[in-house]
Amino acid sequence: MITSDQVREKYLKFFEKRGHKIINPAPLVLENDPTTLFTSSGMQPLVPYLMGEPHNDGKRLVDSQPAIRLQDIDEVGDNRHTTYFKMLGNWSLGDYFKKEQLSWIWEFLTKELRLPKEKLYVSVFEGDGLVPKDLESKRIWLDLGVGENQIFEYGVKKNWWSRSGTPSQMPVGEIGGPDSEIFFDFGDDLKLHENSQWKDEVCHPNCDCGRFLEIGNSVFIQYKKTDMGLEELPQRNVDFGGGLERITAALNNDPDMFKTDIYWPTIEKLEKITGKQYDDQRKNFRIIADHLRASEALIKDGLVPSNKMHGYVLRRLIRRIATKIDDFEKITDNRVIIEELKKFKVSLDKGLKEISKVEKITGKIAFNLYQSYGFPLELTVELFREKGQEVNLEEFRKEFEGHKEKSRSLSSGVFKGGLADHSPEVVKLHTATHLLLASLRKVLGPHVIQKGQNIIKERCRFDFPHTQKLDQVQLKEVEDMVNNVIKRGLPVSYKVMPKDEAIKTGAIHAFNEKYADTVKVYTIGDFSNEFCGGPHVENTKEIGHVTIKKQEKIGSGIIRIYAVLT
Ligand code: SER
Repeated sequence: MITSDQVREKYLKFFEKRGHKIINPAPLVLENDPTTLFTSSGMQPLVPYLMGEPHNDGKRLVDSQPAIRLQDIDEVGDNRHTTYFKMLGNWSLGDYFKKEQLSWIWEFLTKELRLPKEKLYVSVFEGDGLVPKDLESKRIWLDLGVGENQIFEYGVKKNWWSRSGTPSQMPVGEIGGPDSEIFFDFGDDLKLHENSQWKDEVCHPNCDCGRFLEIGNSVFIQYKKTDMGLEELPQRNVDFGGGLERITAALNNDPDMFKTDIYWPTIEKLEKITGKQYDDQRKNFRIIADHLRASEALIKDGLVPSNKMHGYVLRRLIRRIATKIDDFEKITDNRVIIEELKKFKVSLDKGLKEISKVEKITGKIAFNLYQSYGFPLELTVELFREKGQEVNLEEFRKEFEGHKEKSRSLSSGVFKGGLADHSPEVVKLHTATHLLLASLRKVLGPHVIQKGQNIIKERCRFDFPHTQKLDQVQLKEVEDMVNNVIKRGLPVSYKVMPKDEAIKTGAIHAFNEKYADTVKVYTIGDFSNEFCGGPHVENTKEIGHVTIKKQEKIGSGIIRIYAVLT
């Protein structure tokens, strides 16, 4: 039986033989990328190169990238969703395209790994108003010997890939393109479809019944979203990603990913410690096995559990484990995890005692559990869902906000922007820096985040990471964008919300800042969405007009811009 480690080695070697350079995976927490908390795909650290910047290792790259996808956290417990996984990835940065990619990946799966051809299905993009049907990929699949009945066509929801989703969901500046997925068929005899909630529908590769498992996706990244719609990138790229865990499950010919050598040793250990059988404890054991693996990986990358940002995610993962098993010390020898579990155990026991007395959960009680016993909201939700009760989230939020207003600690840690005073000029300039940041991101890319800000009545100073000064065209584009938004008279509003929820909204924030547990997110019309605690005008019209006076390069990779009100 081929192991997951062997699959990974074979994949890297296969593409290395075909001219690819094996690159080191990026850390799970990417510096200077405020768009997501964690690395969630192999392409994420490569965005600048997919957009045209030359990569030191050439135009063909391959790696195995650890990734975290928190959006799947509620699905963990079924046979194929996890928060943490390893993504095998290969890329063409403006080099080879569809023909080579589809032929190679087919060869890898069917010859190198010997997955049976008749169990593999593929999908291609059926086209929409803007981008035509991907007939080329279809032709290539047919030429490779894939049967017509094994090729399916889907629209933007399934066969378009960008980090934000369909073309209309992509923000300006984001890249993406049509893709072609490969699915493994675990077979009719398993009766997965007939036993599922989808039994009344016709089964197909993208059906959710679990009969088919997506094991790889070749994205043809050739578009960038602009204000006008989709624009062709200067180069046509390939971005392949395939989950190592899923490919290994296909090789196992068992749709339960937790039966692979990646998770099974942990499951066996859990059976031994608890004296319970996996078959009776599937959901709990799967959650423990996944969250443990994710936590170990995050800790290896230097994170410690805390109440801030990434550390809080780690804390939540570990706390969820604590609610599922008593003898946790026997499942890991990771000191950080054991310490966190121990610390939480005391609160957990007290909190659980409280819970046992609760007849009907309210938002207020959920808040109390959070505040007094450190129960993350979703834990409380989960515990009460098991009792058939739902937490009123709106009420929880109100409690949260009310409490924070009272204690006046509202996002006090957020804003360290060096504001000299709250004079009208400073307030206008500060609001203008939100527009400046959003415009810089639209013109230069999402790597632009705030590295420093200093405002006095006469001017604002704003630092951000970028390799070189802006040219005249870019400078003008940014300035015009800012002033156009000012003229549009957009409302400036804010919402107070728990930090992790705010992060999920995609609001811009800086990683290195220390945020309070509750933050304010400022929204300027449809243009900007940013964590902030500072004073703002109510409508962009009040700002007047902004001129960029000067820019300079300070230190390595940081550009400083001075802007004034005119
Ligand atoms: N970016 C694509 C994905 O994440 C393929 O690598 O699925």
